[in-house]
Amino acid sequence: MLELQGLLTQKNIKVLVTGNRGYIGSVFTELLLQKGHEVIGYDAGFYDANALADLPKPNRQITKDIRDASAEDFANIEAVVHLAALSNDPLGDLAPNLTEEINFTATVQLAKLASVAGIKRFIYSSTTSIYGIANTQTELDEDSEKKPITVYAKAKWGAEQALQKMGTESFTVVCLRPSTVFGASPSMRCDIVLNNLVGWAYTTGSIEIKSDGTPWRPMVHVRDLSQAFIAALEAPQGLVAGEAFNVGRPDGNFTVRQLAEAAARAVPGSKLYFAQHQALDSRTYRLNFKKILTVLKDYYQPQWDIDRGARELVDFFKKVNFTEEQFHGRVCNRLAHIKFLMENGQLDENLYHTNEAS
Ligand SMILES: NC(=O)c1ccc[n+]([C@@H]2O[C@H](COP(=O)([O-])OP(=O)(O)OC[C@H]3O[C@@H](n4cnc5c(N)ncnc54)[C@H](O)[C@@H]3O)[C@@H](O)[C@H]2O)c1
Repeated sequence: MLELQGLLTQKNIKVLVTGNRGYIGSVFTELLLQKGHEVIGYDAGFYDANALADLPKPNRQITKDIRDASAEDFANIEAVVHLAALSNDPLGDLAPNLTEEINFTATVQLAKLASVAGIKRFIYSSTTSIYGIANTQTELDEDSEKKPITVYAKAKWGAEQALQKMGTESFTVVCLRPSTVFGASPSMRCDIVLNNLVGWAYTTGSIEIKSDGTPWRPMVHVRDLSQAFIAALEAPQGLVAGEAFNVGRPDGNFTVRQLAEAAARAVPGSKLYFAQHQALDSRTYRLNFKKILTVLKDYYQPQWDIDRGARELVDFFKKVNFTEEQFHGRVCNRLAHIKFLMENGQLDENLYHTNEAS
């Protein structure tokens, strides 16, 4: 039967959230719980030891690798929001075959299991990195050419294409393409641009930009993104089935200079330095967010601009007594922490927990 209404218009639906203990997942889980829904978390717990504040407790937690997912994991579930992944380019470069295995193969397998189990909606967290390097004169929309460059971006784009082919009238697939995320989370990341800049300003009192600050970055706050995932669950099937949405806000494209200035404003007295040369990192692109802001306007209204987000980060850092040592260490850096777990024998070369893992 055609699933006409959005799922979350029903009370208390059961949502399996993969990656629920990560940066986005922990904020999204809290929001789902606040709205009265039942959350079944599914996460291998790679970063658990680094949580800077309490992670929200889902109604049930599956602690397992998504590569080992089985039919039982989907019993009595109505929707899946799939966030678990090796979540950036440096991790992708550390272990290209594992990025392919986790971000592509396991993702497609997860969707197959979900579909067979009769799950109604499968929401996938893709990325705007799938567009690759672009001409910044135009804003990229969802139909713009995809030129994924990194292993991470290629796996994400491959997964999106495979997932969209699996959609049917009874299995709704929706892909969200989040801009670079910012904002506070108990499972903090400072390896993403605005969080990193505010981290520099807060812990050292200065921000040094290794370029002239001209590259463009599309940005979205972690709470607005969480609301976008809820929108993908709430909206009627006809608005979202088989669709992909860039996720951001109306003024969602910023230069690195603008981001650095916002970070400096949030930490009064902090100093800001720019190099005169152009960026070594060639990424620069601007996105168009018209589709999500019009099609899902009744469900998604972003609330967080970069200044509000930067101030929230400072308040959070104060609350958790965040230190310069933590900032430079592995606490909020995904690549550094995974390397540490491997070097200390807690993860094996295939990123499976060993007996050494506590
Ligand atoms: N943070 C961003 O700026 C951003 C932007 C665009 C897209 N995304 C995507 O959103 C999703 C979540 O990102 P995030 O920033 O929260 O990442 P994160 O690294 O903080 O969280 C990922 C979570 O997935 C879990 N995980 C990873 N591999 C797993 C596996 N094989 N089995 C089970 N669990 C596993 C980790 O333990 C972690 O809790 C990812 O898919 C990422 O690619 C993030």
